[in-house]
Amino acid sequence: MGEGAEGARHVAIIMDGNGRWAKARHLPRAIGHQRGVEAVRKLVRSLKDTSIECLTLYAFSSENWKRPEDEVGDLMNLMRKFVKSDLPEFISNDVKLHILGDWRGLAPDIVEMLEDALERTSNGSRTLAVALNYGSQQEIARAASAAAREGDITPDAIARHLDTAALPPLDLLIRTSGEVRLSNFLLWQCAYAEMMFVDTLWPDFTPAHLAEALEQFAGRERRYGGR
Ligand code: IPE
Ligand code: IPE
Ligand code: MG
Repeated sequence: MGEGAEGARHVAIIMDGNGRWAKARHLPRAIGHQRGVEAVRKLVRSLKDTSIECLTLYAFSSENWKRPEDEVGDLMNLMRKFVKSDLPEFISNDVKLHILGDWRGLAPDIVEMLEDALERTSNGSRTLAVALNYGSQQEIARAASAAAREGDITPDAIARHLDTAALPPLDLLIRTSGEVRLSNFLLWQCAYAEMMFVDTLWPDFTPAHLAEALEQFAGRERRYGGR
């Protein structure tokens, strides 16, 4: 029997379309990214009204270094600003920060800021997982090497070494902006996740869009290969 989907516990989002949002308004891309951060803030505030225990956001991919230096710099500065301004709110709203990817390879001040934020939010009950300098193929290769060092390379052993090991299984993946690809995000974790590709550009994505996605998710039948 197929398992009816209940409330999604773990939702991941590929936040795409900031550049196109800005372009449509003849604004610099940096403004699009800024508005993207505001969308994140509103979404995180809405988590307490949902079934979501963990929200994972793709913020910067290992391939995003290919962008012009000034755009990369803008994104890093936005990250600095966001963590500084929103950390007190995370703490008071019981949000626990988790980070995926090679974030220790970021600028030393960012690494230090993130270490501090991880420590100060460690008692939170809902998780905000942010993928920073993240590439799923790299993550799987790292996990497989770690599994090999311990003995057998089995799916369970690999899963235990993924950056998501401490998170609930992925229920739902959403990508905004109309692109239908994974762009090296959570390839392993998507094995049985439900997927939704929506046309909304990331800065326009609201808690109401998330609520709608969760409602659609509840109507999906998950089978995991059974019947
Ligand atoms: C997503 O928006 C933000 C990041 C990838 C950091 P984009 O900057 O990719 O926006 P588009 O895809 O060019 O519209
Ligand atoms: C994926 O978006 C990365 C993030 C949202 C952080 P991209 O805009 O970088 O993906 P591609 O290049 O269109 O595949
Ligand atoms: Mg994009």
